[in-house]
Amino acid sequence: MNRKDFIKSIGLIGSGLLMASSPWLNVFSEEKKTVGYRARIGIIGTGSRGQLLMKFLAKNPKVEIVAICDIYQPSIDKALRIVPGTRIYKDYRSLLENKNVDAVVIATPLDQHYPMVMDAFEVGKHVFCEKSIAYCMEDTFRVYQKYLNANRVFFVGQQRLFDPSYIKAMEMVHNGTLGSISALRMYWHRNNDWRRPIDKPELDEQINWRLYNAHSKGIMTELACHQLQIGTWARRQIPNKVLGHGAITFWKENREVYDNASLIYIYDDGVKMNYDSVLSNKFYGLEEQILCSNGTLELEKNKLYYEEIEPAPAFLQMINEAENKLFDALPFAGTSWVPETANENKGHHILDAKSNGDGTSLMLYAFAESVITGTQPSLIAEEGYYATQLSLLGHQAMEEGKTLIFPDEYKINYLNHKLAFH
Ligand SMILES: NC(=O)c1ccc[n+]([C@@H]2O[C@H](COP(=O)([O-])OP(=O)(O)OC[C@H]3O[C@@H](n4cnc5c(N)ncnc54)[C@H](O)[C@@H]3O)[C@@H](O)[C@H]2O)c1
Repeated sequence: MNRKDFIKSIGLIGSGLLMASSPWLNVFSEEKKTVGYRARIGIIGTGSRGQLLMKFLAKNPKVEIVAICDIYQPSIDKALRIVPGTRIYKDYRSLLENKNVDAVVIATPLDQHYPMVMDAFEVGKHVFCEKSIAYCMEDTFRVYQKYLNANRVFFVGQQRLFDPSYIKAMEMVHNGTLGSISALRMYWHRNNDWRRPIDKPELDEQINWRLYNAHSKGIMTELACHQLQIGTWARRQIPNKVLGHGAITFWKENREVYDNASLIYIYDDGVKMNYDSVLSNKFYGLEEQILCSNGTLELEKNKLYYEEIEPAPAFLQMINEAENKLFDALPFAGTSWVPETANENKGHHILDAKSNGDGTSLMLYAFAESVITGTQPSLIAEEGYYATQLSLLGHQAMEEGKTLIFPDEYKINYLNHKLAFH
């Protein structure tokens, strides 16, 4: 899907509301001016995600992948199949010295992000960093400060920000069509342990970094950050409190991070965002549900359910009435309540045809546009920032077994952000 189809699919061309709801879309406004220019990009970390990002970038005529860097030869070999002949580095600092690199895409394990992003801004590169931003709240805050002072573009890999059905849904949330938000429920259920097969045991921690505390915060930084970001986008505020419980309940062999986590994030007005993730049952899959007073959104399914559904066909109503009359005549029969199990509301699609993508390709397209123009899209760094911070705070709440308050010192100016640098 190109940018034109994308805007068309949302059906909101020229809508001021769309820009107010998802202001980073302003990145597309200069699109004609960037024709004929190229963003020269270096990739740091060419593993599974890095290769996917490269495949999208390689299709964009406004991008040139001028260099790659990895410490693991099989990852370099696979990346070279996507961009044969590109310059190869084994140390990211050497790649950063390359003056032909305008911007870097960082897709290394979580614990590597902080030094790489900081060093990249230090030498004046634009940065696309995969989620989550950093391993701890302090480092994430430092990265954000560094970005503010660097006057460079900063994207975080929260691709739902560019998913057309999410954008359309958020526009409906923000314009009041669905009433007020009553609750948010997010879950990600899988049935696998994340473990990758290895030839040499000494490579286990390097290859299976997601399973070890020194490199990863597991469920929270790998999965939850995508979904918690939806809460911030929908509510334009963050929950100030979080409590939760994490455990290893199934995948007990040699892993350190939880395979089972449940958390409650609490907003100041009492609205809650419930989060849970189980890695040993996939029946419910993943979903982000926004429960509003006039309707419910299920964003992964591209579905919207209005609270009031069409009345049942007349003949069914007749049968119901007849049955009620019958039971009314009997003093002991009938219930005094209506069963409140989930109803059979089939809902509507948010967008008629959901695009195949999850927003990643459009986000990378937007990144290239931003690099060429040197303009930071509104709110995109801030969305990424809070997604990481909420994940990390939730993780800490589970580790400490306490209810934690979002620290004031890590709050940033979310709504009155700077619109553009240049
Ligand atoms: N946005 C998304 O939906 C999404 C999806 C998957 C992964 N990710 C993120 O992408 C990042 C990478 O995940 P992955 O699944 O590709 O992991 P991976 O293990 O497949 O790849 C990581 C690569 O980084 C390399 N690397 C490690 N240390 C390095 C260093 N010091 N210098 C250069 N290269 C180094 C590794 O050798 C490996 O090739 C993580 O932050 C992850 O959370 C995001």
